[in-house]
This record gives sequence, structure tokens and C-alpha cells, in this order.
Amino acid sequence: MCGIVGYAGRRGAQPILLECLKRLEYRGYDSAGVAIVGQGLQLFKSKGEIAVLESMMPQMAGTAGIAHTRWATQGKPTTENAHPLADCSNGLAVVHNGIISNFMQLREGLLKDGHKFSSDTDTEVFAHLVEAELQGDLSSAVAKALKKVEGTYAFAVVSGDREEIVAARMESPLVVGLGDGENFLASDVTALLKYTNRMVYLQDGEVASITKDSLKIIDANGQAVQREPQKITWSLEDAEKGGYPHFMLKEIFEQPDAIHDSLLGRIESLEPEPFFQGNNFSSVKIVACGTSYHAGMVGKYIIEELSRIPTTVQISSEYRYSPISRESPLVVLVTQSGETADTLGASREARKRGNKTVGIANVVGSAITREVDHTIFTRAGPEIGVAATKTFVTQLVALYLLAMELGTQNRSMTAQARRAMVTNLRNLPRAVQDVLNQAPLIEALANKYASARDMYFIGRGINYPVALEGALKTKEISYIHGEGFPAGELKHGPLALISTESPVVAVAVRDHTYEKMLGNISEVSARGSPVIAIGFEGDSELPKYVDEAIWIREIPPIFSPVPTIVVLQLWAYYLAKARGCPIDKPRNIAKTVTVE
Ligand code: F6R
Repeated sequence: MCGIVGYAGRRGAQPILLECLKRLEYRGYDSAGVAIVGQGLQLFKSKGEIAVLESMMPQMAGTAGIAHTRWATQGKPTTENAHPLADCSNGLAVVHNGIISNFMQLREGLLKDGHKFSSDTDTEVFAHLVEAELQGDLSSAVAKALKKVEGTYAFAVVSGDREEIVAARMESPLVVGLGDGENFLASDVTALLKYTNRMVYLQDGEVASITKDSLKIIDANGQAVQREPQKITWSLEDAEKGGYPHFMLKEIFEQPDAIHDSLLGRIESLEPEPFFQGNNFSSVKIVACGTSYHAGMVGKYIIEELSRIPTTVQISSEYRYSPISRESPLVVLVTQSGETADTLGASREARKRGNKTVGIANVVGSAITREVDHTIFTRAGPEIGVAATKTFVTQLVALYLLAMELGTQNRSMTAQARRAMVTNLRNLPRAVQDVLNQAPLIEALANKYASARDMYFIGRGINYPVALEGALKTKEISYIHGEGFPAGELKHGPLALISTESPVVAVAVRDHTYEKMLGNISEVSARGSPVIAIGFEGDSELPKYVDEAIWIREIPPIFSPVPTIVVLQLWAYYLAKARGCPIDKPRNIAKTVTVE
């Protein structure tokens, strides 16, 4: 996720672009840049946050321009890879939010045609594609270049010889703000509210040309589009979180897009990635902390199911000091920040032991990505809320992808099984959206139980780590004592804690453990505990055993942790809201733990 802004008007563009850009910093903050049309094209960019760019940049005269704040997905967060990216002659510049999934092929073709590249980004290919098509009209050149691009995008393009911005979108947000004698462009309305509240939302496939006193939109068939502006009634303050009261809720609601982005360009090929080709791993060890550890625990079930490779999971701080075994597993380090001290230490230890390492990380250029042999990036975009939500779900996506690589490489997975996996992965955003649509129901239930002191979470098999993660989210942000158990363990001790005062949340989807799960639910309800269950839609049995039920759409059980954890994220969020907790910044917890 990155942030884009554009301005064409009568005032100096530079301060307006910076002001708007700062409101998009939540979308990315690893590097930033500005291109202004004055006497030709002036470009300035830097690594780091927008404040760094602002402190370093010279005065740039000109009344039109574009700017970008980046969250790297392709190419490290360096000054060279920061946007805007220019063509060979620095005559035009491009900013982009999204992923060009066929950029490798496009880049090879452009190199053959003599284009010179100055970054490792997917975006730069677009600058060269437009350069190759430009013969007068910028909008037509952009429209022609778009025909070659696959993936998702919001683009804005300027050329040094005209005060015009050309923009286009496909599955990435882009809005035009209308002013008097000036017009604006941004990834979301929040960036523009200081200047205007009249917005025109661009649609997929459209190309817009924006000057100080005109907006022209054409659709994918080249037909002119007339669209009335909408009046936005949000206050500036509301808008910073995109209208959500907390970043955590916003990030929970971004999960369908985050899953979609994490799959883009990665599931089409039937061939394993080069790193996995020729490597037959006899075992896997997943090492991580906190929420990432829970993702790893789900990953164990997925990897063993799809590749049959024995997999263990260990907490990073435990692995670092554990005895060396005879095995030489593939060590998978899961860390959204890529900076967690214990996980970094574990990665170094794994390499010292001579093991191959794979990192699963959300931050391109983070420490772990420089240490491991291979990285699978989750493409969740920046996560501001301390409690991990969309990074967890995209870690699960990365683990499905990893399991498919391993299963394909060792031939445990047939091409047919792989195709079925792909279909199911593609359906996940919809399953998550279904859950999000039930947020009001989950809030009502959470309000009912928000005064509990203790809460227990139970699940079996692949749903046991989901229970653990639900308990962690609950304790972390609502300060209710939450504990997760494998449901079959209750009678070996935890039942002593169960009372009418302690609600039990049961992950009870219909899988091969379902009947046993119903038995475990009976054990707690017999002791008077209220039971709130998550089950598959259409299950008429579950309501007979529980006090409340939240339904998810029926999907193959191996995928159910994705929608079920979203239920529990919302559950924890609404419990915390009802208790008046500081949701985005829970006490005593930091987003990135860089100490042992
Ligand atoms: C909980 C949470 C933490 C992190 C843990 C590891 O909501 O966010 O438990 O999961 O500190 O962090 P990363 O994934 O950055 O290594």
C-alpha cells in the first residue's frame, strides 16, 4: 500500500503536495518523493518518512505536480526505488500504488528496446511504457501503456512540458478533488479534505486528465465519462483513519484487499519458485513470536497436510538457546516487522547451524529479509495498530503459498490439487468480507459479555492456534484475561477454572474433529459457562449446544482459520471498545520488539 497525491492549480504545488501527502503517511512511510512541473520536470525523493523528504528538499517552483509516500513491495526502500520514477530522459514521471504482476516480462522487453532502468521497482516499467507510446497526447499514451500492464494500480503521470496530470486506476483507490481554479488527486479523500470536499471517484479501467480548470475521464473503451462530484461530510479528524474510529478496525476491514494483494502474481504458475526447485527438505521448523507464532502453528497443519513434511513450531526466544538436533530442517522465520530481536537472533542461529532459511515478512528491506536465503513478502501494507490483524491473515496466505511450493516440489500435491487450492485461495477475500458484514452482530454479542473478568477460547486441530490468537487479541487490547486451550485438554486441568462468570468462545467448524468439539462444548456448558461458538453456515446441530453462534461461510476446513480469526479480531476489538480501552496503543506493548 502506498499513497499518491497530485495537484494542478494556480498556487505553488510543493507545499500543497506535502500537506496532502502527510495525511496519507499511514499508507506507507519508507520513502517519499515529489515531481513538479516548472521549468521542465523537477524531481526530488528520499528514503525515510515524509518529514525527512521535507527537511532535505529544495524550493521547487511550479503549479502542478505529483507526490508519493511508499510502502515497498517490489524493490528495497531506497532513494532510487522511491517514487516518482522517471523515463530514460527524465521527461516524464510516474507514481504508483499497487503491483504490476507481469513487470519482469515487461522490463525484459523494454531493456531489449534500449530503455535504461534506474530502480528495481515494478513501477518504473510504466514510465518507460508511457515514454514509448508518447506522441503528443499524454492520456492516449497512458491508455496504450495500460493495455500491456497486468495487476493492480493507481497511477499518476506528469510530463515536464505540460501542466496536466494523467491518472488511471485498477483495483487501487484513486479520487479526484475539485476546487476553484485548482484540482487535486489522491489515494483517499482524507488527503484532500483541507482543500475541498467535492470528490469524483475514479472507477476501474478509467483514465483521467486533470488540469487546473478541467477534469476529463475516459473509460476502458475510450468513451467520455460524465460523473457528478460527491460531497464528503467527514471532518478532517475522522478522515485520518479513513472514517474508522481506530486503526485496528480500519486494518481489520482492509483484510480482503490485503489477501488479494498477497496472492497477486503468485498462484498462476504450476512450477515451484527457483529457491525451492532442487531442494527436498525432510523437515520444517517454524520460528516466531506472539501472533506470528500463532500463524506458524496454523502453518504446521497446512504444511503437513499439503506437503506431508514433518513440521515443528518454536518460539524464537526458545529456539535460539535450544540444543542442536541431528536434523537439518528448513527454518521459516515469521515476523511482520522483520525486526523482532528474538526472531532475528533465531535466524542467525539457524544459519550458524547450517540450515536453509525462509523469512515471511511484511516490511521490505527489514533486517530479516537481509539475513535469510529467501523471503516471502506479505503485502498487507503498513499496520499502525499495535495489535496485529491484517499481517496475521497475510502470514497465513504466505504459509499456504509456502506449503504449495513444498508440496509441488516433493510431488505430494498434484496439479489438480494445486488448482483447487488456487480457487479456494481466490475465494478467501469473499469469506472474510462476509464476516466483516456481520460486524454489528459481533459488536452486540461483545457488548453482552464485555464485563467478564476471564474468558476462555477453545479449538481443536488447526483451530487450536486460532483459539490462542483469539485469546491473545482479547487480553492485549481489552485487558480481559483470555486463555486458549486445545478443547480436548479441558478435562486435564482447565475445567477447574470454568464457571458461570467465564464465557467460553469455541471455534467449532465442521471438520474431522467436530463431533469431539461438541462433546467439549457440553463439558463447559454443563458447568454453566455461556458458550459463544463460531461455526459453518447451515449447521443446525451447533445451536443446540451453545448460547450464541456466529456463522462463517462453509469452506474447506484447512482455510477456515482465515475467516474465523477475523471474527475473533472483531470480537476482541468490540470488547475493548465497550470497556473504553486505548485500542490502538495497549498499555506496556510496543509494535516492534527490538530487544531480547
Ligand atoms: C500481537 C502482536 C505481537 C507480535 C510479536 C511479533 O498482536 O502483534 O505478538 O506478533 O511481537 O512481532 P513480529 O511479527 O513483528 O515479529
